[in-house]
Amino acid sequence: MNNNLLKGKRGIIFGALDNKSIAWKVALHAHSEGAKFVLTNAPIALRMGSIDQLAEETNSRVIAADATNMEDLNNLFAESVKELGGKIDFVLHSIGMSVNVRKGNQYYEQNYDYTMKGFDVSALSFHKVMQAAWDLDAMNEWGSIVGLSYIAAQRVFHTYNDMADNKAVLESIARSFGYHYGVRRNVRVNTISQSPTETTAGSGVKGFDIFYRFADDLAPLGNASADECAAYTISLFSDYTKKVTMQNLFHDGGFSYMGMSEETMSNYLNDSKK
Ligand SMILES: NC(=O)c1ccc[n+]([C@@H]2O[C@H](COP(=O)([O-])OP(=O)(O)OC[C@H]3O[C@@H](n4cnc5c(N)ncnc54)[C@H](O)[C@@H]3O)[C@@H](O)[C@H]2O)c1
Repeated sequence: MNNNLLKGKRGIIFGALDNKSIAWKVALHAHSEGAKFVLTNAPIALRMGSIDQLAEETNSRVIAADATNMEDLNNLFAESVKELGGKIDFVLHSIGMSVNVRKGNQYYEQNYDYTMKGFDVSALSFHKVMQAAWDLDAMNEWGSIVGLSYIAAQRVFHTYNDMADNKAVLESIARSFGYHYGVRRNVRVNTISQSPTETTAGSGVKGFDIFYRFADDLAPLGNASADECAAYTISLFSDYTKKVTMQNLFHDGGFSYMGMSEETMSNYLNDSKK
């Protein structure tokens, strides 16, 4: 699609690691909708991932920043304003990582150093990103900030582990900072609660394939892809959603309001006939 929805807008996109990343797809959509932006990721991800390819494709600069480090974030916002020639209209926070999940620790046997690290990366970094923008007054009036969440913030998904708590805080930060940023600069802050999506972060969750299939069977529209998530994100960056703020917006094919579906039920019917 190319409707010039973001023509003349400047942005910062966090979290494009490889071409499966949701942030990667957002960058491609934002580029085709006429935006200029800076791509950013943690220094180690820049070394491991393929972000340079995306930068070339979208004619954008890459600036390294660990999203847990205020110095990096302050530098990122200052450099981005210079690079793009003005204040920022949109920010995507597409960052998540749990050390407990990576190490295979269950929810009831957490290593709290790992828990704190995962909390800092996955939740507090959303606050830090906005704090950096706030301190430099780097956001334009009617700007838009989006973070990515998952329904485990509201309901239990047994292997989602401490990421569930991180997502609950992420959504709370969107509300609290959304209030302050709204009052100060008419900036809106929202989270998108996305379907299970096959990416590096997504596939790291134990039993991801089953999660994915279950959600796909239950949702009347099926799971939303990374590309569809990107298209929805663009709408939140555009001027068509200026009064949407402090919301957690489900982008999951209807999964969040389902109880049981014919398709899911039929799996059990087949089982009971065996
Ligand atoms: N994949 C899913 O099933 C799914 C579902 C709902 C929500 N989400 C959320 O979407 C977001 C993007 O994840 P994804 O699925 O595209 O996976 P991904 O692995 O491609 O992206 C995660 C990104 O976080 C970055 N990151 C980690 N630590 C960082 C740090 N200290 N500083 C800066 N960046 C850091 C990684 O380098 C990576 O680019 C995450 O918030 C994730 O929780 C994913």
